[in-house]
Amino acid sequence: MTLSFVIMIIVLVIVFSIAFYVLAKFRAKKGDKTIPKQVEGNHKLEIIWTVIPIVLLAIIAVPTVGYTFKHDQNISNDPDAVKVQVVAHQFWWEFNYPELGIYSSQDLYMPVNKKISIELTTADVNHSFWIPGIGGKKDTTAGQTNYMHLEPLEVGVFKGKCAELCGPSHALMDFKAIVVTQEDFDAWAADMLEGAPQLDAMASADAQAGAEVFKNNCITCHAVDPGTRSIVAPHLNGFADRELLAGYLEINEENIQQWIKDPQSLKPAATMPGFGHLTEDEINQLTQYLLELK
Ligand code: CUA
Repeated sequence: MTLSFVIMIIVLVIVFSIAFYVLAKFRAKKGDKTIPKQVEGNHKLEIIWTVIPIVLLAIIAVPTVGYTFKHDQNISNDPDAVKVQVVAHQFWWEFNYPELGIYSSQDLYMPVNKKISIELTTADVNHSFWIPGIGGKKDTTAGQTNYMHLEPLEVGVFKGKCAELCGPSHALMDFKAIVVTQEDFDAWAADMLEGAPQLDAMASADAQAGAEVFKNNCITCHAVDPGTRSIVAPHLNGFADRELLAGYLEINEENIQQWIKDPQSLKPAATMPGFGHLTEDEINQLTQYLLELK
């Protein structure tokens, strides 16, 4: 960037200096009606203004090409890198940390100033993993594993997107990248491994009853146990601590209930079936239970 900028500034200054010089020196004098000498073509000049840009572009290309390939390195064997397996699904994201034994989804936690090695696969069609505020994007290609790496430089919450048209809810296939200090990352990891609170630690009888509703209706697709990967649908360990529901909705009772009853109304073509056949009581209990998953 700096090199390109310096070269462009030099070119800009020279070109504008010549332009202003010519404007001043050769402008028509008052009352002078003569036609200047008409010149067409000048081999020497044409060669000069073709060769100079070629040379400048070649100079810029050297570091550009070098850095482009350097940034595309696969660092999955680097022992210092945090390894994350990203699995894209229509229309949600699975984030697993094989070395830490953590399975999660939708919120991607990363420690600041660390190299993060990202392994990209898809469970269905092609998607593209992109956190514009942190780094470039890379496709998750059906039938193949792609690698990229990120190095988040500041603490914060960043928006993540799917950047490849993947179906009716492609535009809603959002996630959050949460960059925290190493200390907070370790605390998060310990919390994730601990899993959901015990039933008797839950705030209400409704939440406790909701655990039963969850077991009877949801657990075939949604894992909640920290040691189990959730392949069909988002892992719900830590759900109530997440930034958003379904990638784009505020986590509140109303949205959770609407989602349980009719997910298609919020995310067209989502694979989750509606659970409108549950009673209002059951839906409320389930909601209270989900809000306890911290
Ligand atoms: Cu997944 Cu677009």
